[in-house]
Amino acid sequence: MTTTKGLEGVVAATSEISSIIDGVLTYRGINIDDLAEHAEFEEVIYLLWHGKLPNRTQLDELKKALNENAPIPNEVIQMMKLSPKEVHPMALLRTALSALSLYDEEAQDMSEAANLRKATKLVAKMPTLVAAWGRIRNGEEPIAPRPDFGYVQNFLYMLSGKEPDEVAIRAFNTAMVLHADHEFNASTFAARVTVATLSDIYSGVVAAMGALKGPLHGGANEQVMAMLEEIKIPERVEEYITNKLNNKEKVMGFGHRVYKDGDPRAKHLRRMSENLAQLTGDYKWYRMSVMIEKLVYDLKGLKPNVDFYSASVYHSLGLPRDLFTPIFAISRMSGWTAHILEQYRDNRLIRPRAEYTGPVNVKYIPVEQRA
Ligand code: ACO
Repeated sequence: MTTTKGLEGVVAATSEISSIIDGVLTYRGINIDDLAEHAEFEEVIYLLWHGKLPNRTQLDELKKALNENAPIPNEVIQMMKLSPKEVHPMALLRTALSALSLYDEEAQDMSEAANLRKATKLVAKMPTLVAAWGRIRNGEEPIAPRPDFGYVQNFLYMLSGKEPDEVAIRAFNTAMVLHADHEFNASTFAARVTVATLSDIYSGVVAAMGALKGPLHGGANEQVMAMLEEIKIPERVEEYITNKLNNKEKVMGFGHRVYKDGDPRAKHLRRMSENLAQLTGDYKWYRMSVMIEKLVYDLKGLKPNVDFYSASVYHSLGLPRDLFTPIFAISRMSGWTAHILEQYRDNRLIRPRAEYTGPVNVKYIPVEQRA
């Protein structure tokens, strides 16, 4: 047996959903650059679940199903209202996601048709959950989803109460497309491990939420914004980053386990960050981000990952910092559910081994005789 810390380089299973080959990311064989440029997020959801892009009828049916399933049970809203308001949104949403299963009659139905219906419900309800918490924690009433709005439009509307403009819809749509799936990342792998015991789809996505929350994974986008706000002004970037690296601390939003020559999603988010800065006239965050990118590369040879420029993008869209990771989860729910469906289709328990490095031949000593 060989031991590989962090499972680096280990190929744990086959998958037909997304691939990273020579630094190029594809969903079902389609280059992410192409999808980021042209696709609606709903098309990507269909692509991940079914292996091909939808035709017009299939796309319209999916949009209708997402709209019909967008409302969340009143009991879950009440639960949110009773929850402490100062908790991290990812902790609250991990709990609320789990609570959804209590009000789904099909929660334990393991047929493929029921699992696809549950995947639709989960993707449909995720933006409603996040937006509801975004308001409830501020003492505001949640806003019901509009049946005539698209997926992205509805989320931005439910969060702010205002109809979003075209620029915001387009930018947010691209961010959703870019975050939708990423092969065997930590949260997706957690979901697959969970459902490989033949546990239900809700248990799988709750496990994934827990894994995404951490700052080495999805939690990094919030940390990037926290860092930008702490630095405050471009003049302080050099000193701050140099000190951090000299102290052997990590700069959030940099580095990646799989990409050693840059994350192909980052360039899209960088461009969006620049475009939004142009539109809002507030260049500060984009400028600081560019300065940090150059410094971290010069000093450490590391390039930004998907989380780095998504921070300034979401900030320019007026989204609160602690909702950045929940927003990631809205998008990644499509990938998690696609992987769970794939796992069920050809399941085998995921159970690796550990190389034991503890003491051996230790005798039991009765409690009275212990020091
Ligand atoms: N800042 C400074 N140094 C870094 C960074 C960073 N962001 N990332 C890696 N390094 C350094 C490490 O200190 C280490 O240096 P050393 O060899 O001198 O000790 C070397 O690069 C290798 O780093 P590891 O942490 O071993 O790489 P690993 O593949 O295990 O981790 C990870 C990848 C977790 C993404 C790491 O790069 C990191 O912590 N980045 C910051 C957090 C982050 O942005 N996470 C989001 C990733 S994308 C996503 O999940 C959506």
